[in-house]
Amino acid sequence: MKTTTITLSVISFGLFALFSIVACNDYSVTTNGEAKFKNLSFDYNNAELETSFDSDIVALGRVLFYDEILSKNGNVSCASCHKQNLAFSDDVALSEGFQKGKTLRNTPGLINLQFGETFFWDARSHNLRDAVIMPVFDHNEMGMTEEELVARIDNVEYYDDLITNAFGDKNANKARISAALAEFVGSIISVDSELDAFLKTSDSNILSQDESDGLMLFEQHCNTCHTALGDIEFTNNGQIPDNHNNNPYMGTGNSSLVNIGLEIAIGDFNNRRVRIPSLRNIGSTAPYMHDGRFETLEEVIEHYDENVQNTSSLDFRLKGDDGRPQDLNLKEEEKAQLKAFLLTLSDDSIETDERWSDPFIR
Ligand code: HEC
Ligand code: HEC
Repeated sequence: MKTTTITLSVISFGLFALFSIVACNDYSVTTNGEAKFKNLSFDYNNAELETSFDSDIVALGRVLFYDEILSKNGNVSCASCHKQNLAFSDDVALSEGFQKGKTLRNTPGLINLQFGETFFWDARSHNLRDAVIMPVFDHNEMGMTEEELVARIDNVEYYDDLITNAFGDKNANKARISAALAEFVGSIISVDSELDAFLKTSDSNILSQDESDGLMLFEQHCNTCHTALGDIEFTNNGQIPDNHNNNPYMGTGNSSLVNIGLEIAIGDFNNRRVRIPSLRNIGSTAPYMHDGRFETLEEVIEHYDENVQNTSSLDFRLKGDDGRPQDLNLKEEEKAQLKAFLLTLSDDSIETDERWSDPFIR
């Protein structure tokens, strides 16, 4: 009888505790009485795609994403390179890591990775949970070890509540940290660009004349590789050898030793293939290509128009009938139409939505 009573009260306390977390989950985490965070309680589910994100795990991931303590000397957070106002990319060819060392490649945007199957320009990761933690241990980017990371998070008071809300107790470990980062990064979903609206409704009023002419050109010359949601294929899109000398990922700049593709990841040497990137919010992610060689979309279009370089691994889709690199002969107006179309892939809300913004009151 006595046991039953105790059990019941534990259950009802449990329910109450659960209820109170759900009801007033405002994370008013404080340090010395001062609030540390802006609102952390949001719904991250996308009704249209029927995604299911745990908002407490996302909240933890969001704080981690913006927290400089994830880097060795407290200088950089994920957001130092992945900037929300740039669709989570960076505006320099190569970003600066914790010791001001340059990253080996251009920082990509982070949209719709929830649906991705490979990550990084060379596809060295096949799992978002692994991909999000790799930068923390990268000696260029954040320079941490697993022990340091876990010890640090363990020592910071505000993580006690965040981890408990997310996982039930306050223990920090690598699996939880990467799960939370992946939940946050994965929640960055865009299905609301102008092109999405057009594809969903086929309403011809949505695209301007230039944009819709640009769409035709894109279908003719680009869509075989770049699908609407981004692709996971690898190919050589005909660039000149890499322009970063002495870079282990990039080769030496010597054309016989070009190393811009999957070499490091899978030992597939000298093929110049890289992952076909997503073009979502492409208007905000300049500079372009794995090495950030092009500053503008005009330069990118110029590349495909008449600068495709011939090599043995050049993708057949960029060759003319004679087997030589394509020369699209685009008129100036067609180049402008292509650019206008590319900009329809932008969903500005990604760059301003509070749910993915810096949660710290700084
Ligand atoms: C110093 C700059 C820098 C920091 C800090 C940084 N990243 Fe990155 N991130 C990059 C670069 C550069 C790449 C591309 C690297 C490559 O492909 O070789 C990248 C790639 C990624 C990718 C793969 C994207 C894709 O499309 O495949 C993910 C996911 C990612 N970063 C998440 C994070 C997270 C989470 C953090 C914080 C824990 C973080 N990054 C910190 C620069 C940075
Ligand atoms: C044969 C496949 C292929 C075709 C066709 C193709 N691309 Fe690409 N595209 C790629 C690959 C691969 C990359 C990444 C190359 C790199 O980073 O070195 C890329 C990169 C880009 C980028 C830069 C993305 C970023 O995040 O930096 C843009 C913009 C782009 N392509 C637009 C176009 C347009 C416009 C067309 C048509 C005129 C086109 N592509 C045709 C394979 C292709």
